[in-house]
Amino acid sequence: MRMTDELRKALRVRVDYTNMTDKYLGDKGISQKTLDAHKKLAKAAHAYVAENRGKDELFMGWTELPYNQDEIVADILEEAKKIRRNFDNFVVLGIGGSALGPIMAFNALCHLHYNDLPKSKRKGPKFFVEDNVDPVRMKELLDVIDVKKTCFNVISKSGATSETMTQYLIISDLLEKAGENVKDHVVFTTDAAKGNLVKISKKLGGVKSYVLPDGVGGRFSELSPVGLLPAAVLGIDIKLLLKGAAYMDKLCKTSDLKKNPALMCATLQYIAMNDGKNIGVLMPYSDNLRTVSDWYAQLWAESLGKNVTLDGTPCNVGQTPVKALGVTDQHSQVQLYTEGPYDKVVTFLSVGSYKEKSPIPHGCEDIPDVGFLGGHTMEELIQAENKATAYALTKAGRLNYTITLPEVNEFTLGQLLFLFELQTAYAGAMFNINTFNQPGVEAGKKATFALLGKPGYAEQKAELDKAASDPAYVI
Ligand code: PA5
Repeated sequence: MRMTDELRKALRVRVDYTNMTDKYLGDKGISQKTLDAHKKLAKAAHAYVAENRGKDELFMGWTELPYNQDEIVADILEEAKKIRRNFDNFVVLGIGGSALGPIMAFNALCHLHYNDLPKSKRKGPKFFVEDNVDPVRMKELLDVIDVKKTCFNVISKSGATSETMTQYLIISDLLEKAGENVKDHVVFTTDAAKGNLVKISKKLGGVKSYVLPDGVGGRFSELSPVGLLPAAVLGIDIKLLLKGAAYMDKLCKTSDLKKNPALMCATLQYIAMNDGKNIGVLMPYSDNLRTVSDWYAQLWAESLGKNVTLDGTPCNVGQTPVKALGVTDQHSQVQLYTEGPYDKVVTFLSVGSYKEKSPIPHGCEDIPDVGFLGGHTMEELIQAENKATAYALTKAGRLNYTITLPEVNEFTLGQLLFLFELQTAYAGAMFNINTFNQPGVEAGKKATFALLGKPGYAEQKAELDKAASDPAYVI
C-alpha cells in the first residue's frame, strides 16, 4: 500500500472519549474541571517520555523502533522468503512479551482460519505460537507438525525462561533424533551478547539470530524482530506496520491533551484509577482484534502494577485488565458492566469498515422478529451492537470510550499498538513508577528454578518445600 497524506488521514485511528465526560454521564463522568486540573501532570508525563525516548538504560529503546531498523527489516524480509520456501510450519517458542505480539499480529492480519487454508491460499507456512508448557499442548502440536519440515523461532530475551528453554530442549532433541541439523531448523531472537541462546548458538556453530535490543522489554517488543520476523513469514507488510507506529508517534508529539490521543487515554485512565476504577475492560468488536486484548493485558498490567514509586514511596497501583469480545461477551459480561460495581472503564475497539460485509438474505418475512434482519449486513449488525452497548453503558453512568480503526490493516494496527505503548508510558510517568520492570514476574521465574533444582537456588527450594499446603485447610 502506497501511503499518501490523504490515505494516512483516512486511516487515522481515532479516540472518542465522549462517554467519559460528565456531559453524558452526569456526576459519574469526568468534568472539564477535573481534566484541566490534570493538564500539568499530563504535560509533565509527556515531557518525561519525550526527554527519555530512545534511552536504553531506562528501557525506552522501543520508541525508536519505527525508525532505526532499515537494515534489520531488509534482512528479515530475506530470511522470511527463505523460511517460506523451505518449511511447511513456522513455530514460535516464546512466552509473555515474546509471544503475545506475534499472536496479535497473526490474529489481526491473517485469515481467521489461516492454518486450515490450502497452501495455495496462504502467504506462508502454517503458524503456531507455543506460549505455554502444558504437556498435552506440546504433544498435540507434535502430532500435527513434522519437525523435519518446521522452522522454530526461539524468542527469549534472557534465554533463561524455563518454559521457552524446555520447549527448545524438546524440539532440538527431536530434530537430532530425526537426523536433522538443529541449526538448520531454528532462528533465535534474543539479547545481543548475554543469555543462554547466545551460548547455544555458538555451540551449534552460529544460528541465524536476531537481536532484541537492550532497551526494549518483552512487552514493548512487537515492533522489534520479536514481532517482525513472524509477521514477515506470514506475508504481513512489516514496513507498513512500522509506518503506522511512526504516524501515531507523530500524532502524539504534541503535549496538548486535547490533540494527543495516547496522552488523553492515559490521563482519563489515571483519573479513573484514582477514583477506584480498578478494572479496565478492553472489548474489541472484531474477531481479528480479539488477541489485542491479550497483548494489551500484559502491557498494561505488567507496566502499571507496581508497589513502589521511583522515589521509594509504597504505592500499590495498577488496573486489572479484563478481556472481552464484542458481541460475544454482550451475552455474558455486559450485564455486570452495566449494573455491577462502578469499578470499571470499558474501552471499545471499533472497526469503521470490515473487510467482509456478509449481506443478510431476506427470509422469514412472516415472522417480523426475524424478518427485520434481512437486507442488512453482518457489518451493520455488529456496528449497531457496538453502538448500542456503548449507549447502554453510558445511560447506566458507566465510563467508556471508543478507539476506532477505520479498517484493520498493518497501518492501523501499527498505530493502535503504538498508541497503547505511549499511553502506558504516560500513565506510568503520571504514577511516577518504573513502568518498564517486572519484579513480580521475576519472582515466579526464580521460584520455578528453585523447585526444579537449578543450581544456586537451594535456599529458596528449602523455603518453598516448607510452604507446602497445610492439610488443616484442604477440604
Ligand atoms: O514483559 C516481559 O518482560 C516478560 O513477559 C517476558 O517477555 C517474558 O517473561 C519472557 O521472557 P524472555 O523473553 O526473557 O524469555
